[in-house]
Amino acid sequence: MCGIVGAVAERNVEAILLEGLRRLEYRGYDSAGMAVVSPQGALQRRRAVGKVAALAECLGDAPLPGRCGIAHTRWATHGRPSETNAHPHQSGEGLAVVHNGIIENHEALRRELVADGYRFDSETDTEVVAHLVARERGRHADLLAAVRHALARLEGAYALAVVSADDPGTIVGARKGSPLVVGVGIGEAFLGSDPLALLQVTDRFVYLEEGDVVRLSAGGRVEVFDAAGAAVKREVQTFEHGDGAASKGDYRHFMLKEIHEQPAVIAAALEGRLGERAALVESFGPEAEALFSRVRQVHIVACGTSYHAGMVARYWLERFAGVPVQVEVASEYRYRRVVVPEDTLFVTLSQSGETADTLAALRFARERGYLASLAICNVPGSSLVRESDLCLMTQAGPEIGVASTKAFTTQLTALMLLTLALGRVRDLAEETQAELVAALRGLPRLVERVLALDPQIEALSTAFAEKHHALFLGRGAHFPIALEGALKLKEISYIHAEAYPAGELKHGPLALVDSEMPVISVAPNDELLDKLKSNLQEVRARGGELFVFADERVGIEEAEGIRVLHLPHVHEALAPILYTLPLQLLSYHVAVLKGTDVDQPRNLAKSVTVE
Ligand code: G6P
Repeated sequence: MCGIVGAVAERNVEAILLEGLRRLEYRGYDSAGMAVVSPQGALQRRRAVGKVAALAECLGDAPLPGRCGIAHTRWATHGRPSETNAHPHQSGEGLAVVHNGIIENHEALRRELVADGYRFDSETDTEVVAHLVARERGRHADLLAAVRHALARLEGAYALAVVSADDPGTIVGARKGSPLVVGVGIGEAFLGSDPLALLQVTDRFVYLEEGDVVRLSAGGRVEVFDAAGAAVKREVQTFEHGDGAASKGDYRHFMLKEIHEQPAVIAAALEGRLGERAALVESFGPEAEALFSRVRQVHIVACGTSYHAGMVARYWLERFAGVPVQVEVASEYRYRRVVVPEDTLFVTLSQSGETADTLAALRFARERGYLASLAICNVPGSSLVRESDLCLMTQAGPEIGVASTKAFTTQLTALMLLTLALGRVRDLAEETQAELVAALRGLPRLVERVLALDPQIEALSTAFAEKHHALFLGRGAHFPIALEGALKLKEISYIHAEAYPAGELKHGPLALVDSEMPVISVAPNDELLDKLKSNLQEVRARGGELFVFADERVGIEEAEGIRVLHLPHVHEALAPILYTLPLQLLSYHVAVLKGTDVDQPRNLAKSVTVE
């Protein structure tokens, strides 16, 4: 989704802004632009459709000197990707705005501004903000006051940054519903949609809160005002992951790097959260023990890959903690008349902690009498974390590839910890707890062994590159893993893929099976294995080509039309985590063979900050 960078520095800011945009590329976008106030006090702008490299080329031909500027990557919502729709948007020659989010009342505002004589050049909702601020600038003494008055007219969600030739050396930023952080430098100050955009210049950040307005000015001055307009002090936090997290290292793609980080990040997600024979309930916060002992139901809400993690957790929580669980995608949940039974724990899952629907679902839930809210999230300081009662960080480090990999397996790890924590306060047998704890400790090693199978998985991928469809099958807690495998393949290779619980095969999808439809199945060593084997026979009997990822102990062997990859034996409860890996690698290699943009697949965004 749209990315924002801003800088007020003691040097030319073009290079800082451009590097910031490159670092935001992972969020997904279709055009980019920059506006800088020149040493002579003139506002100048460059914009380009396509990648940040196209903007860089444009700046190469016509640089933007100046010490104060804003820049943006746009993910089209209102109006197709084009240079005129790209941000920054200007009002006249003197004022420019970049925006992430959606201004819901833009049509009414546009009519009003047109009637007032303002000319619109783009189809975007953002342009109204530029004109509104410009109109207010004429009525007030400075840019800060003008922005504040303009904000009062906006409905919807936004993170904004505004510069004006009349206020050189000043950027005014604001956030409501979309993320924005301030980077604190030495004698310099920056704005970014996330810290990663600014790690080349600082590791100290202020995470703005809902309704905050910020003014950055020369000398690195940062003034924050809350929604009521009162000056407030916000804590400066140090980013812990280091700048290396935002680079590919020796890997060809971020996605491949992130797949290979999984043994280390799963270990990090477990670090300090396991006792000898049980999970440490206090990992979820000091109040967790008292709250968890009251939990009688769990509602889990998330989007995309995170939703699939929630679906796996349902099997675990019901089986080991004995609590009824509902799992739902946030965009549906938030518009439903939800019935909340007494003592229900509300759980959100999110890599970014900024997904608009998940955040809206949390806010909706907070009004509905839940016992408490728990966020399982990867980004410290994100909105979801700040607005939840309890949180557990997944410790995966920054995830840059749009297709989520390590965030998913660490979410699953965290959800197994939640299962054990709830199980512990609800009398899960001590033996079972100890067994699962031991299995969790061994998980990073097993993940490493699966990653070592990469050459064999790469060899399998050749069978998919020419195909247009694929079917994924799984049973029980592996049905969501099949869904996740299908999603990965769709996202990065653009091959249409569907997932079914294997038992549903006969109820429709079997009609699609022929030699052109590869069928991928995850077959761990669990109680549903025999049933799954019969489902696989049904596929073979129709000439379908089968690809089976199976436990080395289950006795499924290669035969004509059946390719088998054996995975190390794992405690069957943890198999969903392990079986995710070959599906990630398979999608990755298929996408590489097809030559798609693996890390930034077309039309998709990493962090979906609009509804
Ligand atoms: C986008 C991303 C997915 C992600 C989903 C939910 O669609 O492309 O990879 O799973 O958003 O994001 P979240 O940050 O809430 O986990």
